[in-house]
Amino acid sequence: MAERTVIELDTVRKAYPDGTVAVAGLSLAVREHEVLALVGPSGCGKSTTLRMINRLVEPTSGRILLDGEDVTRADPVKLRRRIGYVIQNVGLFPHRTVEANIATVPGLLGWDRRRTRARVAELLDLVGLPAATYAKRYPHELSGGERQRIGVARALATDPPVLLMDEPFGAVDPEFRRHLQAEFQRIQRETGTTVVLVTHDIDEAARLGDRIAVLSRGGHLEQVASPLAVLAHPASDRVRDFIGDGSASRMLALAQVQEADLDGADLIVRPAPPPVRLGARLTDAFEAVAALPGSAMGRVPVVGKSGDVVGSLTADGILGALRRAADAAVSDEGLADAVTDDAVTDDDARSGAGSAGGTAVADAAP
Ligand SMILES: Nc1ncnc2c1ncn2[C@@H]1O[C@H](COP(=O)(O)OP(=O)(O)OP(=O)(O)O)[C@@H](O)[C@H]1O
Ligand SMILES: [Mg+2]
Repeated sequence: MAERTVIELDTVRKAYPDGTVAVAGLSLAVREHEVLALVGPSGCGKSTTLRMINRLVEPTSGRILLDGEDVTRADPVKLRRRIGYVIQNVGLFPHRTVEANIATVPGLLGWDRRRTRARVAELLDLVGLPAATYAKRYPHELSGGERQRIGVARALATDPPVLLMDEPFGAVDPEFRRHLQAEFQRIQRETGTTVVLVTHDIDEAARLGDRIAVLSRGGHLEQVASPLAVLAHPASDRVRDFIGDGSASRMLALAQVQEADLDGADLIVRPAPPPVRLGARLTDAFEAVAALPGSAMGRVPVVGKSGDVVGSLTADGILGALRRAADAAVSDEGLADAVTDDAVTDDDARSGAGSAGGTAVADAAP
């Protein structure tokens, strides 16, 4: 995975006029086509970091490069055409209809009406809000979760090469959130968009992120690594605190059943219970083992792509798989990725009341 760097933050610092140091010397590279999940406690500088990338906020010092070009020297309007942005708390234009909101960037790019209308309808479908009902509504005629979905649709309108998303699914109910996450993942894989996704939710980060960057107060980078590496080997107590309980079950959802975890097929007790597929998530394998009747002796058949039985799996095998995944996560990333940087102390960043929200900058975006 030796990808090109698309966004590079080089010792970026942001001190707001009142003296709050939101980000103190953050260095971070975002690779082409990856989803980098940016996580950390409220007020740690996530939104500030995103806003500096598309210049809604100017860094106090340091450099931000987009495709090697210093964004502070770029025309902000042109910059924002290349970067889709989903603002925390949405930031839809209140006096424009849903349709007009989604068509903002297509309009800037001079798309004709028919193409724009088709794209708007497609995106509304995607986020589960049919055009017939929603296209002509105004933001105040939507629920919070619906507004957020329109925000996502707007950011996706022109398939921007880079997408910055600030808590894009936060106000959506859990069931629809999983649906949106899955849709987002499908589109992202199809288009290869480079994404920086801010979230409070470690599960969302683990599900969607190719890598997770964990920040602590003051924009201090505690760790950047694959989800499995962060869960299995948190680089600091702050990372551990942020993740909280449940690492093992999260890892079960990320790791997969592989050949190395299997015993022989000859150990399967007849009649054979329903099989698990090679490559299945360990969560599913675990559920299959847990559901076995006593007569099966705790062993499920495992089938390959062609449906042939390739071996059998027990709870011990699953535990082995979990350990293997945790070990592999470290050798993949190397501990070099677990950055602990300069002497930023907690006092450098005054505690604040969390997010400043998106409304103040809504008119500047996208
Ligand atoms: N315009 C501003 N003026 C002064 N301080 C600000 C401003 N905007 C943000 N801050 C402060 O900077 C720090 C980082 O804020 P930021 O919005 O980046 O945090 P965040 O990680 O996005 O938090 P959340 O998870 O709550 O959205 C906080 O202490 C916040 O109070
Ligand atoms: Mg924020």
